[in-house]
Amino acid sequence: MMQIVGISGSLRRGSFNSALLRAAAELMPPGADLKIETIEGIPLYNADVEASEGIPARVAAVKKAIAGSNGLILATPEYNNSIPGVFKNAVDWLSRPPSDVKAVFGGKPVAVMGASPGGFGTILSQNAWLPVLRTLGTNPWFGGRMMVSRAPSVFDESGKMTDEAIRKQLQQFLNGFIEFAGV
Ligand SMILES: Cc1cc2nc3c(=O)[nH]c(=O)nc-3n(C[C@H](O)[C@H](O)[C@H](O)COP(=O)(O)O)c2cc1C
Repeated sequence: MMQIVGISGSLRRGSFNSALLRAAAELMPPGADLKIETIEGIPLYNADVEASEGIPARVAAVKKAIAGSNGLILATPEYNNSIPGVFKNAVDWLSRPPSDVKAVFGGKPVAVMGASPGGFGTILSQNAWLPVLRTLGTNPWFGGRMMVSRAPSVFDESGKMTDEAIRKQLQQFLNGFIEFAGV
């Protein structure tokens, strides 16, 4: 069984990106499983805290999950045409200490997707992840794109994906990524 880890970059209860990730978990192809991790509980990065207390338990748990996975999916919101601070902060913690980066992120297949109420579906935020993914030595997948725009018309009040065309697109996106991650 291929184990993929998915992280949503939103803390919001009604998050479209978390809803997108839950839809992805339902649509994973046979033989692959999506384990949803969260940035909830990850503190603001502070080098003094790292020096005196080490890596927070939540951070260590997510690092372990990613290290043991066959691939990583980031569901990223877009804030001010870039990565939301809370999400970047979480990944900054996950990249500590530098001696662990290779084991956690090195060569890791990574897919980026995102959802926004606006018309551009997080394209600029997805682009903003590229230098981060390169710096961490990941193996980003460029074989598909998943930019969900007009999110309130794609998900219902409970966060369920109700747009069949987007569901199909997500399924194809996941199939492509899993094929890539499995090679
Ligand atoms: C500070 C801030 C900046 C935002 N900037 C953008 C933006 O540049 N582009 C965009 O599409 N949406 C922007 N939004 C709207 C978010 O896409 C919207 O809040 C979305 O629901 C966040 O993702 P979530 O539903 O997963 O929490 C912004 C929202 C906030 C709070």
